[in-house]
Amino acid sequence: MRVFVTGGAGYIGSHTLVELIAAGHDVVVFDNLQNGHIEAVRRAGLVAGRKIEVIEGDVRDAAALDAAFRAARPDAVIHFAGLKAVGESGTIPLTYYDINVHGTIRLLEAMDAHGCSSIVFSSSATVYGDPEYLPLDEAHRTGPINPYGRTKLMVEHILQDWCATSDKRSAIVLRYFNPVGAHSSGLIGEDPRGIPNNLMPLIAQVAGGRRTHLDILGQDYDTRDGSGERDFIHVVDLARAHVAALDRMADCGHCETINIGTGHGTTVLELVAAFKEATGITIATRNAPRRPGDTDSCFACCQRANALLGWRAERDIAQMCHDTWAWQVQNPHGYGGDV
Ligand code: NAD
Ligand code: UFG
Repeated sequence: MRVFVTGGAGYIGSHTLVELIAAGHDVVVFDNLQNGHIEAVRRAGLVAGRKIEVIEGDVRDAAALDAAFRAARPDAVIHFAGLKAVGESGTIPLTYYDINVHGTIRLLEAMDAHGCSSIVFSSSATVYGDPEYLPLDEAHRTGPINPYGRTKLMVEHILQDWCATSDKRSAIVLRYFNPVGAHSSGLIGEDPRGIPNNLMPLIAQVAGGRRTHLDILGQDYDTRDGSGERDFIHVVDLARAHVAALDRMADCGHCETINIGTGHGTTVLELVAAFKEATGITIATRNAPRRPGDTDSCFACCQRANALLGWRAERDIAQMCHDTWAWQVQNPHGYGGDV
């Protein structure tokens, strides 16, 4: 298939390009580069053994999308483009609704205009809000507690309504748990701008000497050791789930929602210990108060992903730590001037 990858210059998108090409697909990236890197696409091309075309544009720009679809003539879309910082979404909610929701509507209009009827969408476990039971299955009620999560849930509803009006349309909504890690080549990885929000990039920066210590945000959660527990998934496994979703598209014929995680929880302290085990580096930690909005435990039921996609995560926590560190060592300043 020829796949139109919005946000393909970002963290998950760049890893997915490699797996799509390895599976025999043709790709074209559409990205406005506000949080992505041309260098990430170039390196994904190096790993995949093929130059990857990038069209620079904004998903809210109907004319840019029209021109891109006219040129690329894609069979399917994978829609990564969007904003993803939970805290920031509370500060600039309208921008989040504009890019994540309005941008997706413009994209679906462009797909309709150009006869493209299959889309894989990046959603998030954040749509569940505070878990009522674990593991979280797709039937769990949704109830996002921040604007970012609400944009994701709105797009899920839009995709259901879009698919309901034609048998030809299909959408697969992937609800990611906590993506971490990097490609084993060390060439592509996560390069957050500014201070990272997420745990693993912070651990990597402490290990690399860019930060003095890691704050353990909360010590009294209802978990094995009192620190928060999450379902960390290796970004390459996550990337492969998108390939499996495209394979599934022909049999789908409507809108399907699928969790993408490992099914196992790891606590913050367990991750810090696993990082030491995998790399030999001790992460200095300091106890700090809970972060508002954080929950005790969150991990996925992956039965639907196994059944519908024939997919399961293969890489363990040790590999996630090892590959994160290899990326950090080779690119201490991310894509900015290394290698
Ligand atoms: P990322 O920021 O690295 O990638 C997003 C890409 O979208 C960037 O390259 C950015 O330049 C591009 N983009 C942003 N706004 C755009 C616009 N208006 N027009 C065109 N391109 C635009 O993020 P990521 O971690 O790769 O996440 C990809 C998707 O997965 C996002 O939709 C995110 O919400 C979702 N997701 C991520 C996580 C996570 O922890 N990384 C978890 C759950 C869901
Ligand atoms: N944490 C720390 N110290 C830090 C940062 C985080 O102890 O400096 C803890 C958090 O309290 C939490 C765990 O590490 O217990 C994971 O936090 P992250 O910020 O890495 O991830 P979240 O689970 O909070 O959220 C992430 C993404 C969301 C996405 C969600 C899906 O940021 O966008 O996963 O489950 F929706």
